[in-house]
Amino acid sequence: MGVAVLLLRALLLLAAAVAASVPAEPNRLMQIVVLVRHGDRSAMRSLPIDPHSELLDQVGPAQLLEQGVRQLFRLGVWLRRRYDNQSLLPRRFNTSTMEVRSTDTDRTLMSAQALLAGLFPGQCAGDGTSMPVCYPVPVHSKPTQTDQLLKMSSPCAAYQHRWRQFRARPNGPFKSAVREFRWLAELARNRTGWPGPDDCPIKQLWRVEDSVSSWQRMGLAMPSWVNGTVREGLAELKRRKFLWKYEEPQLHSARMGLLVARLLGGMRLRLEGKTAKALQVYSAHDSTVAAFLHAFQVFNGLRPPMAACIIAELYASGEFRLVYKNSTEQPAVHQLSIPFCPPPCFLPQLESEMRRRGVWAETAQAMCGGGGDLAEDSQQDEPLGAVYNFILVIVLSVSWLPLLY
Ligand SMILES: *[C@@H]1O[C@H](CO)[C@@H](O)[C@H](O)[C@H]1NC(C)=O
Ligand SMILES: *[C@@H]1O[C@H](CO)[C@@H](O)[C@H](O)[C@H]1NC(C)=O
Ligand SMILES: *[C@@H]1O[C@H](CO)[C@@H](O)[C@H](O)[C@H]1NC(C)=O
Ligand SMILES: *[C@@H]1O[C@H](CO)[C@@H](O)[C@H](O)[C@H]1NC(C)=O
Ligand SMILES: *[C@@H]1O[C@H](CO)[C@@H](O)[C@H](O)[C@H]1NC(C)=O
Repeated sequence: MGVAVLLLRALLLLAAAVAASVPAEPNRLMQIVVLVRHGDRSAMRSLPIDPHSELLDQVGPAQLLEQGVRQLFRLGVWLRRRYDNQSLLPRRFNTSTMEVRSTDTDRTLMSAQALLAGLFPGQCAGDGTSMPVCYPVPVHSKPTQTDQLLKMSSPCAAYQHRWRQFRARPNGPFKSAVREFRWLAELARNRTGWPGPDDCPIKQLWRVEDSVSSWQRMGLAMPSWVNGTVREGLAELKRRKFLWKYEEPQLHSARMGLLVARLLGGMRLRLEGKTAKALQVYSAHDSTVAAFLHAFQVFNGLRPPMAACIIAELYASGEFRLVYKNSTEQPAVHQLSIPFCPPPCFLPQLESEMRRRGVWAETAQAMCGGGGDLAEDSQQDEPLGAVYNFILVIVLSVSWLPLLY
């Protein structure tokens, strides 16, 4: 008798708990997190023998180009369209439900501003015939030396150690590439005068590739030694860089543990109703995007192009979806299927898989130190690291507005 009553009570409690945990609209979008690479930029540095070094001095190294601003603005407009019907994002930026974080470089800070100008049309005045003037949006960042969250070249001794070991493997991919591309190294050394103190031919070729591809983006003349075969060789080596640097679990765990823990932890808080954050934007680099894709085992083998964008979506049911938009010219978007959490992938499973794989804050902290980045609002506790970047006016030239449509 007593047992039956207890059982009945337990059942009722269970039913109530289930009813409380099943949201009314399971398909309602609760949060989106955007990780984006900056747009087209100038070269990182001049080569010792460089036909375009004067121009680079004028533009400045590693600067976002005008077409780069356009790419990010277009991406923002696309994001607005994609999510406009979801009533998740108001047309103006709301500081209590949104957060933008960028690495501390001009190109990523500016890219974030351009993206937000497209995403929040209510921020901007203009009727489409005059230049829009946008009310500024706060963008937070940390100096590179302490930015373990987004800057893949921030100091991490354990990562550097593993990466050196990877390069040193006698018959490993790195040494094989040194042999395979010796012809290119010899040619490039002779024609560019080999920049930098470090004599690793592959690293030098990555630098040469950076200059050559920036000349192409800027529509500049190529020196005669840069023919199709040379360009292909340089691009292939650059492609492999993003495979090598983050493919192995130890390598991507060190670099991605914090960001993954922050992303999934923030989503958990959102599901539990403990935060109102609807949007998070991270403005970063090809290496950040590549490492992130490796951490979810969805890397496609290609270097993330300019303005490449990953969107993580959280639904009220707890479902987690990843979308990759890797072109601002093509309308295509790619739904990514996470091998260890195939669709429908729910947050608790994803989180326990990531912890099990060591792609979590503890691993990253053990390898790299740092970790002040875990809490959602951590930057507010660290006034030294927080930089409010006010760009008062984003001037988007009218001439390319038609390109958006
Ligand atoms: C909103 O747009 C998305 C993406 O285009 C679409 O899948 C979804 O069905 C739309 N929702 C509504 C309520 O119109
Ligand atoms: C910003 O979002 C908060 C929380 O949803 C809301 O209370 C507030 O009214 C919003 N502010 C504006 C200006 O829309
Ligand atoms: C490149 O090779 C040519 C011919 O061997 C030589 O004259 C020239 O000095 C070399 N240039 C550099 C920068 O090594
Ligand atoms: C490009 O230049 C390299 C080295 O000078 C040469 O081996 C190759 O055949 C050239 N390729 C083409 C397509 O001209
Ligand atoms: C974008 O990603 C898709 C899917 O991985 C791939 O097929 C395509 O080649 C990529 N495009 C670029 C420009 O990277």
